[in-house]
Amino acid sequence: ATAKAAGKPSFDFIEIEAGVDQTHHVAEGYDTQILFRWGDPIFPDAPEFDPLAQTAEKQAKQFGYNSDYIGFFPIEGSPDHGLLVCNHEYTNEELMFPGVELQDSKTAAFGKMTKDLVDIEMAAHGGSVLEIRRGADGRWEQVKDSKYTRRITAETPMAITGPAAGHDRLKTSADAAGKSVHGMINNCSGGITPWGTWLSGEENTNGYFWGKLPEGSVEAANFKRLGIGTPAYAWGKFHDRFDISKEPNEPNRFGWIVEIDPFDPTSTPKKRTALGRFKHEGAAGLTNKDGRYVVYLGDDERFDYVYKFVTDGKVDPANRAANADLLDSGTLYVAKYNADGTGQWLPVVYGQGPLTEANGFKSQADVLIETRRAGDLLGATKMDRPEDIEANPKTNRVYVMLTNNNKRTVEQIDSANPRADNKFGHIVEMLPDDSDHASTKFAWEVLVRCGDPSVAEVGSTFSSETTKNGWFGMPDNCAVDSEGRLWVSTDGNNAKATGRADGLWAIETEGEMRGTSKHFFRVPTGAEMCGPFFTSNDESLFLAVQHPGESEDEKKPATFEAPLTRWPDFKDGMPPRPSVLVITKKGGGKIA
Ligand code: FEO
Ligand code: CA
Ligand code: CA
Ligand code: CA
Repeated sequence: ATAKAAGKPSFDFIEIEAGVDQTHHVAEGYDTQILFRWGDPIFPDAPEFDPLAQTAEKQAKQFGYNSDYIGFFPIEGSPDHGLLVCNHEYTNEELMFPGVELQDSKTAAFGKMTKDLVDIEMAAHGGSVLEIRRGADGRWEQVKDSKYTRRITAETPMAITGPAAGHDRLKTSADAAGKSVHGMINNCSGGITPWGTWLSGEENTNGYFWGKLPEGSVEAANFKRLGIGTPAYAWGKFHDRFDISKEPNEPNRFGWIVEIDPFDPTSTPKKRTALGRFKHEGAAGLTNKDGRYVVYLGDDERFDYVYKFVTDGKVDPANRAANADLLDSGTLYVAKYNADGTGQWLPVVYGQGPLTEANGFKSQADVLIETRRAGDLLGATKMDRPEDIEANPKTNRVYVMLTNNNKRTVEQIDSANPRADNKFGHIVEMLPDDSDHASTKFAWEVLVRCGDPSVAEVGSTFSSETTKNGWFGMPDNCAVDSEGRLWVSTDGNNAKATGRADGLWAIETEGEMRGTSKHFFRVPTGAEMCGPFFTSNDESLFLAVQHPGESEDEKKPATFEAPLTRWPDFKDGMPPRPSVLVITKKGGGKIA
């Protein structure tokens, strides 16, 4: 049923036309500035980008590939000067390297990938910390000689902390203590904490591991549950730690939430094992009314779960150092959605319920290393690919992006996942009992079922005020602006799937206009839309364009020589470059 929407809209902008072409489009009256492109030199001594002469050493001083999460930390409270953090989720070798078509283990056994190219990929993963400032002309620029500039790569030393640190299942020949690891990989969305750190979720880490486990390994079921064993990258061919026949515990050191202090470029990033190990999408949270910090976590796989983590300790706003290890102690929960609109958070705690030795768990470390299996045993609700989850501090409502699930059958429908072959995804809204984010109870409802409302069999529920441009499919990342309004970015729209590019939509969540969506920005062909992140005054909106020019047809992959677009440079010989952008209003003012 389509809701009636007759109220006053809270978004003023004039929406753009949905569609797909070679470039990006923003609503009239707004400016798009391309801030950082893949390969841009970010240190004073970094070399200029030359795609035909790229090396790992150069790449480690240049902006990385495919940003997903973007966060901004004000310096001295300024919305116009601060640290921008961007992760670099993954690489598209077919668009980065001349003469290298899309590689995988099934086709050419990564025959075109050399060690030099793999090392470039490893240096293009991870993240960047950049000091940026907005000038009197309204444009942003990097402070090039900043003491904060940092590149994190797949080789950056990191600590492993929390209940699983030091466990035998995390020990390798390079790390007999099981407490340190090199790099973070496939970092998807994330969050920033009120104590000024950056949280980043390691997502599809399975694709980086090569080889076969030794016969009878205790990790066989664990690795199967995470899809380890079908490599998408050639790293294991040249680096033993990515070959599970040689280092069978290395995958257990990936798939965590990483906490990074962007204000100390010499700090060691920390993998916080208390928050569980799975295909972490994001890590947005808020300070609960009792002072504890609560992080909402999605596990992006068909039929996987929604989680939250509640710290034991309270956030100390007056003493930054006191919060340094807050994320090492607390309780992880997994969500169960009941048909009557209520729900429970089930503790993912060793010794409780089925999480005992009878099921192979000897400690909380075991529970965390195999978080998914714990969720299975607890009877959590199997969701349609949980992506970003954001809490709205104005209303305490929590929005869960469920991007799609083409494998759900009619028999597998439940009230929280109400469509079989769910191609377009939906958004679930949760409200904790007593607005207490530490509560184990919540109420929930579906905010919107996505897809084209003019096609009856899609079963979309955008409001009747939503125009033909205003609907979207495949919600992925999201942001709540300072007014408490929801913005949703998408991944998976293209000419074939929906006749439109991915982009950013603003959706009403309150009052009579609830369920009304409007189109603000769209990406060039082949790309997905990431970020989004608003400065505290809503005057600057940071967005990321991932994998522009990538083919939507797996049988006809685009290449360095023939990408779908050469955005954003549009120069012969220059491949498309994933980039981070900032949107501002012409003449100044809020994005609204
Ligand atoms: Fe990296 Fe779940 O998207
Ligand atoms: Ca995502
Ligand atoms: Ca987000
Ligand atoms: Ca995505």
